[in-house]
Amino acid sequence: DATLSREAQAIITGNDRGGYTVPTAGLYPYQWNWDSAIVAMGFAAFDLDRAWAEIETLVAHQWPDGMIPHIVFHKEAPTYFPGPNVWDTGRPVPTSGHSQPPVAAFCAEELLARDNGALGQARAARVFDALMRWHRWWHDYRDPGALGIVAITHPWESGRDNSPDWDEALKAVDGSNVAPYERRDLKHVDAKMRPTKEEYDRYIALVEFGRSLGWNARDIGQRNPFFVADPGTTFILLAADRALLRMAKFLNKIDDVPVIEEWIARAETGVNRLWDASQETFAALDLRTSKHGGGVSNAAMLCFFAGVGSNDQRAAMIGHFRRIRAKTGFGVASHDPDQPNFDSIRYWRGPVWAFMNMMIGRGLNEQGYEAEGHQVWEDTRALLSGYGFAEYFDCNDGSPAGGGAFSWTAATWLQYAA
Ligand code: DGY
Repeated sequence: DATLSREAQAIITGNDRGGYTVPTAGLYPYQWNWDSAIVAMGFAAFDLDRAWAEIETLVAHQWPDGMIPHIVFHKEAPTYFPGPNVWDTGRPVPTSGHSQPPVAAFCAEELLARDNGALGQARAARVFDALMRWHRWWHDYRDPGALGIVAITHPWESGRDNSPDWDEALKAVDGSNVAPYERRDLKHVDAKMRPTKEEYDRYIALVEFGRSLGWNARDIGQRNPFFVADPGTTFILLAADRALLRMAKFLNKIDDVPVIEEWIARAETGVNRLWDASQETFAALDLRTSKHGGGVSNAAMLCFFAGVGSNDQRAAMIGHFRRIRAKTGFGVASHDPDQPNFDSIRYWRGPVWAFMNMMIGRGLNEQGYEAEGHQVWEDTRALLSGYGFAEYFDCNDGSPAGGGAFSWTAATWLQYAA
């Protein structure tokens, strides 16, 4: 363990670009939102000051409307597409035009737990205010109907780019007329582990559409051809709201307490809209068509982390967990191996993601499913110690996939698996 922890530390410090950390060199040469927050938890294991700096840098690029963008383009890097000019958001330091799942609040809470004295409180208080504004942005602009579930406007906003959850809804996006572009991701990673060209064309079409609306969040909510409630983002936001509430009480942010309590109450009942009775799982819900899409994903397994679900819903999800685990070599698969569009090596269509396991495993433990929680922890340890700190792993044979020397995988080792 000590050797692996040293290796994990070296990966994170090697990817440190001064105040922010890249997910991995080459493939992802900028600051990514949820990567960065997870990495802060990794830093916290050996350098708490640097851990806070990671989150402070992230929130420093918040937009006036409250959004914290999914990429901050600190320095132009030719190895990535689409870069700042394609997004054209007009921000002083260029950023992308949408967000990414809000894991930062519970990451910040972890940092505060390591030092909750005067210094920790002062740093947490400043970050808290930015996170409060960001969560408000999610509730206002990504849940305009106050349904208690939040939508994403681009598969990249979910962080689960090519999950089958989006397949059906993406058909409404015309990718046939996008400006010519070159896939730079395929220079770093085998094409069989990445999204297809057809998917990429639609991803780029959505960027072009957002840009045509000047990245106005209200207009995008009304007019974007893709507006899909995401179980991942919804469950993460709920877990993050709970963390924010605990912080608000601890830091004496009394005025914010009732606001957060209302968000939580709305989500606790709202999540039932994500329940797909035909598949007996939480699933994506296309808010343009009111149809469920996808299937049993690792994001749906975050229901435990969010602390939701009736007894029947929980029993069904645990049933899926056991069925899927029995069919794969390692849990938790990002997509259901009993579905025809499952692919053990292709990004979010089957592979295992260590940082997702950290949230799923903790959720299972918190909700009293200790055998399953332990299984997730063991699988995560086995993957990282046996196959390295890869971006993700083949859920059948464990082989490393995507980018190597990956920051959030290393952080997950330090924070959870070691
Ligand atoms: C990519 O470019 O693959 C990223 O997932 C976008 O955030």
